[in-house]
Amino acid sequence: MTVHFIGAGPGAPDLLTLRGRDRIAASPVCLYAGSLVPAALLDHCPPGARIVNTAPLALDAIIAEMVAAHEAGLDVARLHSGDLSIWSAMGEQLRALRGLGIPVTVTPGVPAFAAAAAALEAELTLPGVAQSLVLTRTPGRASAMPPAETLRAFAATGATLAIHLSIHTLPSVVADLRPLYGDDCPVAIVWRASWPEERIVRATLATIAQAAADGPERTALILVGRVLDARDFAASRLYDAGYDRRFRSVEAQA
Ligand SMILES: C[S@@+](CC[C@H](N)C(=O)[O-])C[C@H]1O[C@@H](n2cnc3c(N)ncnc32)[C@H](O)[C@@H]1O
Repeated sequence: MTVHFIGAGPGAPDLLTLRGRDRIAASPVCLYAGSLVPAALLDHCPPGARIVNTAPLALDAIIAEMVAAHEAGLDVARLHSGDLSIWSAMGEQLRALRGLGIPVTVTPGVPAFAAAAAALEAELTLPGVAQSLVLTRTPGRASAMPPAETLRAFAATGATLAIHLSIHTLPSVVADLRPLYGDDCPVAIVWRASWPEERIVRATLATIAQAAADGPERTALILVGRVLDARDFAASRLYDAGYDRRFRSVEAQA
């Protein structure tokens, strides 16, 4: 018996990996993490599967479900939105399961920031503009931030920022970033990337608060950085005809 953690992707049911789909289909128990996991993914569960929404459950109750499945010899598919490596609460479940000697697997998923970038048809790392992407958030009711991980500290690098779990504090995000990125720095907000109700607002740090004023206060990514409107960046050297690389030597082309 194994607990299979599976990244359920950002919302569109077809943004699930084939491995994730197959593990759901092979597991007689499915625990899914609330409304951000699309209901259509549950259609992959086998007939008669026990399907539990864990949104109202505390950690102990979730682990109790896994232990009960373990004792019955039933595999569990454990679904969390996006990918499991960021803000999934997988860490505490892994720790408990390791302590109990229950085997696990982890299948990655498409993270929300990638779905948002796809919605914007944007590359978030452009040569000479930004070569780093910071996945971050602001403090929430349930999670404080480590003291050094401030938006201002990240902004001091000029990297592209993908700010999660923060749409409800947009004015303070903007206030932190304006002095470092400048008023004209582009910002894009993508609500519910890849869902049918996906919505995009593009503006600048000076205008985004107004432009996004009527947007929902949940499930949005705030992307900030010069890459969002860069036009005259250098092309990547990787595809430069004069760039010698292992699979396409300049000599061989001559
Ligand atoms: C608890 S975190 C989960 C992140 C997830 N594990 C991932 O890989 O993207 C939830 C936050 O992710 C972002 N998010 C999740 N799904 C999203 C989507 N489809 N579109 C935009 N933002 C999304 C929002 O900032 C939301 O508040």
